[in-house]
Amino acid sequence: MVMAPSVITTEDICVNDNFYHCPKDPKLTLDTDHGVNAVSLPRASAAAKQLVLDVLRKRVADIDVATCEPGEEDAFYVADLGEVYRQHLRWKLNMSRVKPFYAVKCNPDPQILRLMAKLGNGFDCASKAEIDLVLKMGVDPSRIIYAQPCKTRSYLRYAAEKGVKQMTFDNADELYKIKADFPDAELYLRILTDDSDSLCRLSMKFGASLESARQLLELARELELKVVGVSFHVGSGAEDPNAFLKAVQDARYVFDQAAEVGFDLHTLDVGGGFCDETFEKFAAVVSNAVDVYFPPHIRIIAEPGRYYVASAFTLAAHVIARRTVRDPADPSRDAYMLYLNDGVYGNFSNIIFDHQHPVAQILTSSDDGNSSDGSCEPRAIDYSIWGPTCDGIDMISQRITLPGLVDVGDWLYFENMGAYTRCSATRFNGFPDNHDVIYISSEAGASALLEH
Ligand SMILES: Cc1ncc(COP(=O)(O)O)c(C=O)c1O
Repeated sequence: MVMAPSVITTEDICVNDNFYHCPKDPKLTLDTDHGVNAVSLPRASAAAKQLVLDVLRKRVADIDVATCEPGEEDAFYVADLGEVYRQHLRWKLNMSRVKPFYAVKCNPDPQILRLMAKLGNGFDCASKAEIDLVLKMGVDPSRIIYAQPCKTRSYLRYAAEKGVKQMTFDNADELYKIKADFPDAELYLRILTDDSDSLCRLSMKFGASLESARQLLELARELELKVVGVSFHVGSGAEDPNAFLKAVQDARYVFDQAAEVGFDLHTLDVGGGFCDETFEKFAAVVSNAVDVYFPPHIRIIAEPGRYYVASAFTLAAHVIARRTVRDPADPSRDAYMLYLNDGVYGNFSNIIFDHQHPVAQILTSSDDGNSSDGSCEPRAIDYSIWGPTCDGIDMISQRITLPGLVDVGDWLYFENMGAYTRCSATRFNGFPDNHDVIYISSEAGASALLEH
């Protein structure tokens, strides 16, 4: 059963008395001078978590695994668009000078893209298909940056046809391709960064060294191409905010070189790599660095992906099988291997491609959670958790302790599943890659934007 991706707002959820009533206060608005402060954001976020849990429980309560059709018990997401909205406000509060171009690759969900467009954000696209997704929403091509330094030639011509002018480059061959296929393009020289402290390193693949920058700028000049800015990416899931400081300093150096070569650059693109947990720290470093090194008339943009969407998606998966084993750490105890109907070839692809460690929580369990000796202490039981395919690498958790006995037919849920999950899922072993998403909005501001 594939549900239409309709948006459930707080109001919908209040219709039924069985549902949690999401408090109307705090209500956040885009008016950052009045509506939001650093305290109200986490408060709203805590209330929203309960709303997500209620929607997850409502959905699984409607599924009878003893009688349902194949696939009705498939894993599914609840996506809280209000969480994306709060992240946007947080961005505006902490980095008002930097305009976000959402990295579509991270999660090209249509409702997320719609909300990004309504919020006035730009888009970082890496392929023809991503460009199409954005243009089909009616977004002006000037709001897109084709941020892939090594482009497919036919895609380059497609970008030219559609008027997607902004794009990155980092090597001489790319400049010759651009000269042939899109000489009017507006080019950003992507420079190398020190991404040694990042979760997903990108600089081993992309980025021009500072030593080669001048030569590339001179070649662009010779070819009569238009270089308009510098871009960098400190690595996805960056850990060290000083990587941003160093990259901004390097970008300043390249801006000065470009001026010597005869270009008047107007934009710095500070890339992605921002994370939920460390955002304020990174934002302070970036804001300060761009103010120190770039005068106000220089436009600053960024390409955040995971920052916006990771925490907005919660995944629920069904326990399809269980095996009782001796606990390897304490052979006197039972432990359990749980098999879910989703794994690393599916939505847990972030374990392989994004070095994530999703944490299971119990959504429904037939166990009351109490000890068999009658005490009310919750039982701590150890599990390993596996996906549904025949492959041994399809493991979600090597070892996790949960407060109760999980059985076949129970449901687990995983928070923070919005980044690099669905978009890199496969159909290996015939399992589906197009799981349902139930959209909710825990923020009236987001609901209002999406209504029109
Ligand atoms: C060019 C580019 N921009 C932006 C991003 C988004 O990075 P993140 O999701 O860490 O913000 C990526 C991720 O790989 C990227 O390659």
